[in-house]
Amino acid sequence: MIARTRCLFAAAAAVAFASACNAPPPPPAVAAVPTPPLAATTAEHLPGLHNVVAYAPNVIGGGQPEGEEGLVTLKGMGIQTIVSVDGATPDVANAEKLGLRYVHLPISYDTVTPERQQQLAQVLANCAGPIYVHCHHGKHRSAAALGTALVGTGALTPDAAKARMQVSGTAKEYTGLWQAVEQAKPLDAAALRADASSFPSVMKVTGLVATMAEIDAVIDLVKQAKDAGWKAPADHPDLVASKETARLAKLFAALTDDAESKAFPGDYQQKLQQSIAASAALDAAVRGNDAAGADQQLAALSKGCKACHATYRDK
Ligand code: HEC
Repeated sequence: MIARTRCLFAAAAAVAFASACNAPPPPPAVAAVPTPPLAATTAEHLPGLHNVVAYAPNVIGGGQPEGEEGLVTLKGMGIQTIVSVDGATPDVANAEKLGLRYVHLPISYDTVTPERQQQLAQVLANCAGPIYVHCHHGKHRSAAALGTALVGTGALTPDAAKARMQVSGTAKEYTGLWQAVEQAKPLDAAALRADASSFPSVMKVTGLVATMAEIDAVIDLVKQAKDAGWKAPADHPDLVASKETARLAKLFAALTDDAESKAFPGDYQQKLQQSIAASAALDAAVRGNDAAGADQQLAALSKGCKACHATYRDK
């Protein structure tokens, strides 16, 4: 590890010398990746990085970097600070290997609290840029986080922020996220002041949010298996569909013991039971090599996510 770092430094120094001390060149192992233009009207999909949209000079939003490929793309774009607003634990170790700083400030789907808006604005004002802000898919929460934070720093008006959210594809049903951006206000210099090193690289997320973040990651893998006809996809040969569907069924079943989940009313419990049944049926279909049945159960399970969230998460 130390040897490798030294080697990179030596190579970087040689390239810097050759290019006569202009802007520092990207490390030699990482190819430069152009940053999407601010005027782009569609999101970009880059290697290991989905739904990438520029919000302001040196401020970019998008999906969670997928493995090292996504982190290398960020490095290639010159990103220095990555901000996750997702509940999942960020891959800090691999980011740090590339010299990328991680900041973790998770938000929910129903609003961006004033406290979080201020912290996000402080990160944009004080941490090394360019800065990349992501949630899971890069459509809803990262867009609202950026919208509120950039209104906070004075870089965007709420209308301009909402126009960038449209490009990210923020769904209209997340009314709390849109409202947070509409109501965001510029912060004064004192409110924007912060020690750049004070932000956490991992915030401990527990209970229902942690389980949901894991369910989200596992269902992504299950969908990849489905798209490959319930076999291991060519670009993910180690993916075993039945292993992931078993994990999904276990995660849903475990929610009956979760204190936060148990506190919801009967209608929620009914929806949860339907999802538990669908996840078990999906697992059984995959194990029984019943591709049509598995397609059907996965569709039912996905509908269940939306139905429960519409009432119990997004407002
Ligand atoms: C029976 C209800 C219910 C079902 C079914 C359900 N969820 Fe959730 N989910 C919730 C609630 C409630 C929250 C909000 C928890 C909070 O913020 O405290 C949530 C939050 C989430 C989050 C946000 C986690 C974060 O980072 O803050 C994700 C992602 C998620 N769910 C994914 C899924 C997926 C994918 C499915 C379907 C495969 C699913 N959920 C099914 C109730 C449900």
